[in-house]
Amino acid sequence: KKILFSGMQATGTLTLGNYLGALQNWVTLSDEYECFYSVVDLHSITVRQEPSELRKRARNLLTLYIAAGLDPEKNCIYYQSHVSGHSELAWILNCYTYMGELSRMTQYKDKSKKHADNINAGLFTYPVLMAADILLFQTDVVPVGIDQIQHLEITRDIAQRFNGIYGDVFTIPEAYIGKSGAKVMSLQEPTKKMSKSDENVNASVYLMDDVDTIIRKFKRAVTDSEANIAYRDEQPGIKNLIDIYCGCTKKTPEEAVKDFEGKGYGDLKAAVGETVVSRLKPVQERFNELCSEKSYIDGIIKSNAEKANHYAIKTLRKVQRKVGFPDRA
Ligand code: TYM
Repeated sequence: KKILFSGMQATGTLTLGNYLGALQNWVTLSDEYECFYSVVDLHSITVRQEPSELRKRARNLLTLYIAAGLDPEKNCIYYQSHVSGHSELAWILNCYTYMGELSRMTQYKDKSKKHADNINAGLFTYPVLMAADILLFQTDVVPVGIDQIQHLEITRDIAQRFNGIYGDVFTIPEAYIGKSGAKVMSLQEPTKKMSKSDENVNASVYLMDDVDTIIRKFKRAVTDSEANIAYRDEQPGIKNLIDIYCGCTKKTPEEAVKDFEGKGYGDLKAAVGETVVSRLKPVQERFNELCSEKSYIDGIIKSNAEKANHYAIKTLRKVQRKVGFPDRA
């Protein structure tokens, strides 16, 4: 089987963007690939975290992966910090990555504006750790949202550079981007990405929002004054609603536009809200059930970390040997 790797940060509460852009596709692809899904807690500390909060969020995120439909017996679901190979490979790859290429990363530029009081080296080398995550497992495919494409490209560049020096060490990974939901936009400013860290709570739908909140947020979604339901860039609010609808139903934008022929924006907002509710409800219910199954989750955390480590060590040892570190007795 081909290998799939992906991960999410345990910062903030997951949004509908994380779900439609990534998590939902992970579930769809999980039968076809040998899958590794990590809670990337090492990445999270590039911005300051409250330790007990981070621990709680990481646990919730791991539980949510399972609640969304990933079978933890078949998919390797684990904490990045439990597999030391991530950090070890990241160090090595740091030495094969240029300052210049890292300083071109848009996420770094955005984050260093936002966290101007804490522009640490980890924030700068964040993409190298992400490259290490992916390359550690000889990954073929990485399902992500559009915002991660640049990081995937630098991962490929680093891998190719390394292979160019030492021979075929790393598989060159490909991004997998879903047909819809790959860039869910803010409900309040539809030219901006929906983000966990948005200060306006009405801008993002959170995975754990209750029914009324979801319906209300869609009702308040910013649209336009054209009164025309069409899927086009000139109407970003409406386009986003259609895209969300398609992400939940797997319909094409053309089919969606047909569904709303002769209808108004109010109908569209209500229908999209309902569709999202019915998509998220089973995930929320399963999440709540799983939260009371402590020993089951604990067992998964332990066994999957061992499994991930088993795979990670293979690549790590190969890389260590290639760069010239002494053999182990
Ligand atoms: P993160 O935690 O910001 O986001 C997790 C996933 O959700 C996607 N996503 C979106 N998709 C559509 N619309 C949106 N508005 C939206 N917002 C977020 C992201 O594209 C991502 O797929 N650096 C990564 C985590 C990471 C990783 C990796 C991913 C670390 N190592 C290795 C893949 C492979 C990040 O911060 O994602």
